[in-house]
Amino acid sequence: MTDNSTPIATDSLLENDRRNVPGKRSTLITFIGVVLVLFVLLAIAFYFVHTHFKYTMNNRYCKKRVIGFYEDEGSSEMRHTHFDKLTHIVFSHKFLIENGTIAFKNKDARFRFDNLKDIAKLYWNGMKVMISIGGDMQFSAVMASQSKRSKLADSIVTFLDEHKTDGVDLFWKWPAASDKTSYLLFVKELRQKMLKRDKKYILSVTSAPAGIPGYWPDGFDLEEMINHVDFMNIFSMDFYGPWGWQTGPAAPLYHGIAPRENFTVDYTMNYYTCKLKETSKLNIVIPMDARIWRNVKTTLPGSEVFRRADLVGGKVEGTIYTSRLVAENAGINFAPSNWDEQTKSSYIFDQKSGIFLTFENKKSIEEKLNYVNEKNLGGVWIRSVNMDDGSVHLLDDINYQEYCSSRSTDTVNYQCV
Ligand SMILES: *[C@@H]1O[C@H](CO)[C@@H](O)[C@H](O)[C@H]1NC(C)=O
Ligand SMILES: *[C@@H]1O[C@H](CO)[C@@H](O)[C@H](O)[C@H]1NC(C)=O
Repeated sequence: MTDNSTPIATDSLLENDRRNVPGKRSTLITFIGVVLVLFVLLAIAFYFVHTHFKYTMNNRYCKKRVIGFYEDEGSSEMRHTHFDKLTHIVFSHKFLIENGTIAFKNKDARFRFDNLKDIAKLYWNGMKVMISIGGDMQFSAVMASQSKRSKLADSIVTFLDEHKTDGVDLFWKWPAASDKTSYLLFVKELRQKMLKRDKKYILSVTSAPAGIPGYWPDGFDLEEMINHVDFMNIFSMDFYGPWGWQTGPAAPLYHGIAPRENFTVDYTMNYYTCKLKETSKLNIVIPMDARIWRNVKTTLPGSEVFRRADLVGGKVEGTIYTSRLVAENAGINFAPSNWDEQTKSSYIFDQKSGIFLTFENKKSIEEKLNYVNEKNLGGVWIRSVNMDDGSVHLLDDINYQEYCSSRSTDTVNYQCV
């Protein structure tokens, strides 16, 4: 019996062995199949996360510029979620430059800058950190002297080296026509000195709006300057503010009532792009401050957003440059607001108190991002990120997805005459 059963057992073992060979193979194939399916699923998941969340969570890889100016006043702080939204952070401080060397105004400012830069470098590796010099300060005396220009250019490059900073924005508000030649010479010299370094330093210039009589970018040799900078931040704002009796948005995209029909972002950008062609170098501004007028009653014909503020003692009463927190503390609520379709901007009018205010909201900012996309511009610059300090953080609420997904082509999408 045992003699009989053994070969059977052997046979069946052999049978099993023979069957096991394709059995092992199919296990392997199944295993590879599962791995492949998992891999594909992971890839799809990654792609989904990548396209749907990357741009809303973090804009460092945005294909257009999102430049945040941080206005150094020593009070307000940058929030971490604000860093998330930026490709560049620009420390805007009233640097001293009177003798042709750049210096912080005080030790505290230097501390604040180092802190901002360290945070950016530590947590947002790849974000560009720049400084902005100028503002309302007079550059003329420095620019007019060849030796001071040279000294300042050297001093800026040394500053960038020493402070491990990625670049500088020149924000002279504004050069006069008589400064045009010397300002261009300075920009060229600074660029030359930057190019001699191994590191690719960024140079940008902030320039004036067009369309406002007496406020034209007369002091800029734009066509020459564009060749020596990485980009230009166009100050496409201050079309309306409570220095004038007529209410309106700081930066209306379109539409104005005569004689202010050219007081728009679109007019300014039309002017710049037709002149300069390199549309991807041009950024439009997103003003973050609220503008408040008092004693407002009547609307101007054909518009809601353009109204008349009554003068008190020959003057307009209002607040020019106020952060959202300051406005809220003064009792202003930013929601609900009204929408003006013609200018693509938001406003609030309280008939009882006669208070009228204009400001950016989610919709108006998204209109500006769409505008940049449509017109093949290079990006936006936010003035300034630390003014977005109210109970709602506006910049967190914006959908950057479409804006960030494509690079600007240098195609002029305006009618040039
Ligand atoms: C610039 O030079 C003048 C004269 O030498 C001096 O009094 C002044 O303190 C200097 N300013 C700065 C910021 O260095
Ligand atoms: C507005 O711009 C157009 C085109 O540049 C110009 O012809 C017109 O005179 C401007 N209007 C005013 C009021 O300046």
